[in-house]
Amino acid sequence: MTSDTRWCFSPTFLGISALVNAISYQHKPGATESSVLGPFHDENSHLIGNGATIVEEGTYGEATLVRGKVRSVTGAPVKQAFLDVWETDGHGVYDLEYVDRHGDPNRRGKLYTDDEGQYAFTCVRPILRPAHMHFMILHPEYNKLITALYSRDSKYVESDTVFGVKSSLLVDYKFTKDTELAGEYGMQTFKKNIDGKQREGGASAAQDSRLDQEA
Ligand SMILES: [Fe+2]
Repeated sequence: MTSDTRWCFSPTFLGISALVNAISYQHKPGATESSVLGPFHDENSHLIGNGATIVEEGTYGEATLVRGKVRSVTGAPVKQAFLDVWETDGHGVYDLEYVDRHGDPNRRGKLYTDDEGQYAFTCVRPILRPAHMHFMILHPEYNKLITALYSRDSKYVESDTVFGVKSSLLVDYKFTKDTELAGEYGMQTFKKNIDGKQREGGASAAQDSRLDQEA
């Protein structure tokens, strides 16, 4: 994939945003660190089943499975935590940015964790500078968490300091040849050249989150 320059954040805006974020969200030690909300959150997003997809068919990008667990800072699974996730497509563009979009939310979705605090959804691997995926996690007994998952191998993840990328929020997207797993989630696999051979599979990432409670 190549990076796309059609979309660009204003660094000044983001710098302020990161600062406000640092001041407003003081989480307890052990809780997942927060990140900027960004301008592309949209309430107009579908509730999906746990394990379903947040992308509509034909969306450009590498098919990706994201799985994780939501826990309290003490490690207890948080069931029925509400996740609101949003991301760009494989061009690095959010649905709201397409002038010709037809109105349906795409690359965004809402879902609940299961009894073990687990969640899963399929999407496309986001690209941007740096590549990231937004998460808002809500539960009546816990503090709201607005965070993001940053791709460790993103070209800009270390140099782009205005994003205030925190090392605890970096994840590895792995290419998996487990087509059975892909089938389980109804993912469309893609081919990737690895060591001179065409391999079939999909990308996957795992991210656990820890929520804290008010004192
Ligand atoms: Fe973003």
